[in-house]
Amino acid sequence: MRVVFLAPIYPPEMIEYTRGLAEVGATVYGVGDTPREALPAKVKPYLHDYLTVPRIMDEDDVMDRVTAWLRGKSIDRVLANWEPLVILAARLRERWRMPGMSSDTVKGFRDKQLMKERVAAAGLRVPRSRRVRTETETRAAAEDFGYPLIVKPIAGAGSANTYKAEDASELDDILEKMRGVGEASCEEYIDGEEFTFDTVCIGGKPAYENVAAYLPKPLEMRSVESCSPVIITVRDMHQHKLQGGVALGRKVLTALGMGDGFTHMEWFLTPKGEAVFGEIGCRPGGAHIVDQMNYTSDIDLFREWARVSCWGKFEANAPRKYNAGIVFKRAVGQGKITRIEGLSEWLRICGDAVVEEKLLRPGTPRRNWKHTLLSDGHVLVRHPDWATAHRMSFAAANGIRMFAE
Ligand SMILES: Nc1ncnc2c1ncn2[C@@H]1O[C@H](COP(=O)(O)OP(=O)(O)O)[C@@H](O)[C@H]1O
Ligand SMILES: [Mg+2]
Repeated sequence: MRVVFLAPIYPPEMIEYTRGLAEVGATVYGVGDTPREALPAKVKPYLHDYLTVPRIMDEDDVMDRVTAWLRGKSIDRVLANWEPLVILAARLRERWRMPGMSSDTVKGFRDKQLMKERVAAAGLRVPRSRRVRTETETRAAAEDFGYPLIVKPIAGAGSANTYKAEDASELDDILEKMRGVGEASCEEYIDGEEFTFDTVCIGGKPAYENVAAYLPKPLEMRSVESCSPVIITVRDMHQHKLQGGVALGRKVLTALGMGDGFTHMEWFLTPKGEAVFGEIGCRPGGAHIVDQMNYTSDIDLFREWARVSCWGKFEANAPRKYNAGIVFKRAVGQGKITRIEGLSEWLRICGDAVVEEKLLRPGTPRRNWKHTLLSDGHVLVRHPDWATAHRMSFAAANGIRMFAE
């Protein structure tokens, strides 16, 4: 089983997928823009060979270089788990006539307007939305949809350049800020709670499923610096309240022609109890959500994803044992972290429930919270009881304080 895996070390959790591939018996050919000498030592045992390309986002260039590099070798899979590379992986598969999702199918997971059109065509509830390329088109869409509305890049990530407009004057400000964005999606604002629906699929059918709650909604996580974003996997994901979202998620996979691998969907639960589609990617969620799923069930999804991708099998037993909550912290002040307050007290109260404490240590420069949800580090707790996991997570959100200067 020879596998080309794009970007095997970036973002850093990709090293875990590379490990998974090696552990299920794949011979891994990595392709990335990190120089070979700079590869972390821990990924080396899992890589059979590695090609450095000058620009990993330059699809045509990467395709030519990889084709030349592998000439004469038979390759069985081309895989990517990082959103900006899923189309490139599909194009390579097409060029080499290999199994896996086509680039047209993958576009349905990448282009936020196309995905909503395909999901809506299957009779599922999506926000009203329109692809807009100019200010005039955006204003016309706003006329039709009314306020509040959302304007966001067609191929965005991490809520970057995503805005909510309450009225026409707010839309004016937003249009100003979005000057650099080529294509956008203008959509009806959906009120309510926001959740994920994550899967590892075999032929579009989930072999593994997960729901996590965003507290607060990702857009708020990215607009309010003083908040400590919390995400908790829901142990009892089949409870009545979430059934609509899980059913929606499964149908979305069919509507979009999902094949093998991870998916990460976001959906809204309106105050009336309706599940509304948000967006979906055919790759795992970021910001440690795969770690949270692993803690939820004591499994190794990095390896199971690899097994599915290579051999079409998911072998782990995945009992839902815990609600796993991650809390991202943001220091007050700029520069380097100087001190952390409330941590020892929180650790003492939560005891064994704490599974990770990775707050940036004093002396470390702050991370840019707008660029990465990881912010200034995180803590992760798990508990079988939802209310307890929720309470411990918010005790960290409110009780741990970090400072920088
Ligand atoms: N139609 C919408 N209604 C309400 N909130 C939305 C809508 N679209 C996006 N958002 C908010 O913006 C966030 C980012 O949008 P999303 O489509 O998920 O893009 P990204 O790829 O940046 O994650 C969502 O998680 C949600 O909080
Ligand atoms: Mg999103």
